[in-house]
Amino acid sequence: MPNQLQITDIHIENTDADTATVATDRPVGEKDLATLGVAETFLAASKFEGKIGQTALLPDESSVVLAVGTGSKEISIPDLRASAAHLWRASSHLESLTSFLPLVASSHLGAEVALQAVIEGLLLASYRFDELKGSPEEESKLRQITLIAPDGVDGEGALAKAHAVASGISLARDLVNKPGGSLTAIDLADAAASAASDIEVEIWDRERLTKERCGGILGVNAGSTEEPRLVRMTWRPEGESKGTIYFVGKGITFDTGGLNLKPFEGMKEMKIDMGGAAAVIGAMSAMAAHAPDVTVVGICCCTDNQPSPTATKPGDVLKIRNGKTVEVLNTDAEGRLVLADGLSIAEEESPDLVIDLATLTGACLVALGSQYAGLMGNNDQAIRTVESAASQAGERVWHLPLPSEYRKQLDSQVADLRNIGSGRFGGTLVAGLFLQEFIGDTPWVHLDIAGPVTTEEVEAEFPRGATGFGVRTLLEVVNNW
Ligand code: BES
Ligand code: ZN
Ligand code: ZN
Repeated sequence: MPNQLQITDIHIENTDADTATVATDRPVGEKDLATLGVAETFLAASKFEGKIGQTALLPDESSVVLAVGTGSKEISIPDLRASAAHLWRASSHLESLTSFLPLVASSHLGAEVALQAVIEGLLLASYRFDELKGSPEEESKLRQITLIAPDGVDGEGALAKAHAVASGISLARDLVNKPGGSLTAIDLADAAASAASDIEVEIWDRERLTKERCGGILGVNAGSTEEPRLVRMTWRPEGESKGTIYFVGKGITFDTGGLNLKPFEGMKEMKIDMGGAAAVIGAMSAMAAHAPDVTVVGICCCTDNQPSPTATKPGDVLKIRNGKTVEVLNTDAEGRLVLADGLSIAEEESPDLVIDLATLTGACLVALGSQYAGLMGNNDQAIRTVESAASQAGERVWHLPLPSEYRKQLDSQVADLRNIGSGRFGGTLVAGLFLQEFIGDTPWVHLDIAGPVTTEEVEAEFPRGATGFGVRTLLEVVNNW
């Protein structure tokens, strides 16, 4: 468990608990406000209507009661996680808490699922990234949490799964939050190697990448003083494998734009440009806890993108692993070059599904805003699989087209392809069309996560900064397989 998760002690009790701790919560839907036993004027004054995200402190004889809004409908898993996160924030000044929150959803979601969602919401809300602060932020006092679950629930099982998921998401957040100067491609590969138990990890250095003809990664790395890395992580089920899924992540540890240098406004956030790789590493780290009976391979294409006399120059032609040549007309469109190698590797093994994740285009932010990932793909069933996994995960994605009409924008006079479109618009779709050239007919889905990789506002279980977006969707895909 990364130390950024502050909660150290969660107990599950299967019986009616002794509630003589400092606080107890009382989940209240919008309809059962009257049963709270408090004056309406008090509720109005504290603006408590039982909505998700609302909490109110109520006095009790020897302790405090926290009313937690659970909404007007049967609560969903993402909303339950959000409620637990709000509960955590509202009780940070208390030392211990007994929560009945898992019970509200147990009957319709299943007790273990509800319990897991509550634990995840609490853990993820407690995440913080303050290792670079001279004086750390004030810590929450809440250390001990007792969760009440129905009899017969496997509390330890729910706790273990929730810990694995929350740790995977926290790891992805940590990697994205780390500044570009403190996280090189080598560091990212090392983080992958030490993240996962029961996972095979193979790392390709520059020499090996050359031998393996990974001209995209090498071309982007050409201006850097740091070595590139390709990480390959494999989960193999114990019994017979029911298929093979590949995850491919963009791991640009810092994107200056290269010789097509970004202006300051565009460059200052670019430590986040390895968010795709972080999601892959986070998901792979939680694989053993889910032990899916499918083979899962995670590939991360890691380097920084730097200007220098040795850097790839506009007009240079790179040869990607699958033999296609690319005229680099803009060195800032580097993500697609490294992914081209990663997707080529995935395609060689004819897997059942390939999902790539990348902070690929600023245009995706323009199109969908910061909360939605763009989803594109070459296979309707694969698209539906990822869409429904994302919906279960509570991660927002929006299906965009890969219009063959725009493909000619990528035609080059000197090479098989150019790395940017000749037109001004539809940059996200053109980037998707570029990637499609390297995956053939293998069922494939591309997630452009440039927006949701970070959040500027605290929202439910997401503190400011990296969100860990993608980890949960990848795990749902594997769990549903
Ligand atoms: N890493 C950026 C995309 C990005 C922008 C991610 C903003 C997150 C927030 C990517 O490498 C890039 O620079 N893309 C260019 C492509 C263009 C040169 C065709 C872009 O979006 O401007
Ligand atoms: Zn770029
Ligand atoms: Zn980039």
